[in-house]
Amino acid sequence: MNILVTGGAGYIGSHTCIALLEAGHSVIIADNLCNSKSETVMKIMDIADKEVTFCEIDVTDAEAVDIIFRNYKVDGVIHFAGLKAVGESVDKPLDYYYNNIVSTLVLAKACQEYGVNRFVFSSSATVYGDDKVPFVETMDLLPTTNPYGETKAMSERILTDITNANPDFSVSLLRYFNPVGAHWSGLIGETPNGIPNNLMPYVTQVAKGKLKSLRVFGNDYLTVDGTGVRDYIHVVDLANGHVAALENLTEGVHIYNLGTGKGTSVLELVKAFEEANDIEVPYEIVDRRPGDIASCYADASKAKRELGWEANLDIISMCRDAWRFEKNYTDFVESK
Ligand code: NAD
Ligand code: UD1
Repeated sequence: MNILVTGGAGYIGSHTCIALLEAGHSVIIADNLCNSKSETVMKIMDIADKEVTFCEIDVTDAEAVDIIFRNYKVDGVIHFAGLKAVGESVDKPLDYYYNNIVSTLVLAKACQEYGVNRFVFSSSATVYGDDKVPFVETMDLLPTTNPYGETKAMSERILTDITNANPDFSVSLLRYFNPVGAHWSGLIGETPNGIPNNLMPYVTQVAKGKLKSLRVFGNDYLTVDGTGVRDYIHVVDLANGHVAALENLTEGVHIYNLGTGKGTSVLELVKAFEEANDIEVPYEIVDRRPGDIASCYADASKAKRELGWEANLDIISMCRDAWRFEKNYTDFVESK
């Protein structure tokens, strides 16, 4: 199939492009590079040893999107393009609502106009709020506490309503847990701007000596060791989940958790990182981070049952691959 991958130069999108190419699909990337670089597109082609079509466009621009649908045969869309920093979304709600909602509307409209019936959407476990773990797809969604989370819940709703009104349309809403790690080649991975908010990129930068020590946000949660528990999933497993969702898509709306189903605490992740890479990660315990929940992990059985997909890579692989990319990337940037 010819797949339009919006946000395909980004962290999860780039790994998914490789998985799609390896599965025999063709890829058209639409990305405005607001949080990525065009070099990543070259690296995707190097790794997969295949060509991709790259369109540097903003997917909120209906005319630019129309040109793609008019000029290329699109069989399906995977919509990654979006702004994703929770804290920033509180400061810049307009940017987040505009970018993340308008892009979904523009793409859904183009699909309707050109008779493209396969649509896979990047949602997030954040839509579950702080209900009881494990999170199951059938749970009612709680109101999220930030504009970013709202854009995910709203996009899910928009795509569901469109599908209900157009029975030929097929939509897969993928709720990711915590994507970490990098491609084994060390060529592509996560490159956060400034000081990272998320745990794994913070840990890799501490290990590299770019940051002094990890601040562990709270050790008084009701968890195995008091620190926050999350469901970390290797980005390569996550990428393969998209191929499975796309290839198994049938009419209607289908919601899948993409996680491992296994919770790992902050201190367990630090220990795994130290073991995997034989490197020390200094840390200190500080106050809880406002807005954090104690535990978040998936019931991932539906994706296994219906898509035949499950995560295979363990926390050691995630730590090893994240570190390999951090070392390569820093050396590459410093050599420039
Ligand atoms: P990313 O920032 O690395 O990738 C997003 C890509 O979209 C970037 O290349 C960016 O340049 C592009 N983009 C943004 N707005 C655009 C627009 N209007 N037009 C064209 N391109 C645009 O982020 P990621 O981590 O790869 O996340 C991909 C998707 O998955 C996002 O929708 C994100 O909200 C969702 N998600 C991510 C996580 C995570 O932890 N990384 C968790 C849950 C959900
Ligand atoms: C964050 C986002 C969430 C997104 C998810 C996936 C927030 C509030 N939520 O969630 O919307 O879907 O990433 O990437 O940003 N931690 C530390 N020290 C640090 C960083 C994190 O102790 O420097 C702890 C946190 O308290 C948490 C765990 O590590 O217990 C994971 O944190 P993080 O990587 O930021 O992910 P989430 O909080 O799950």
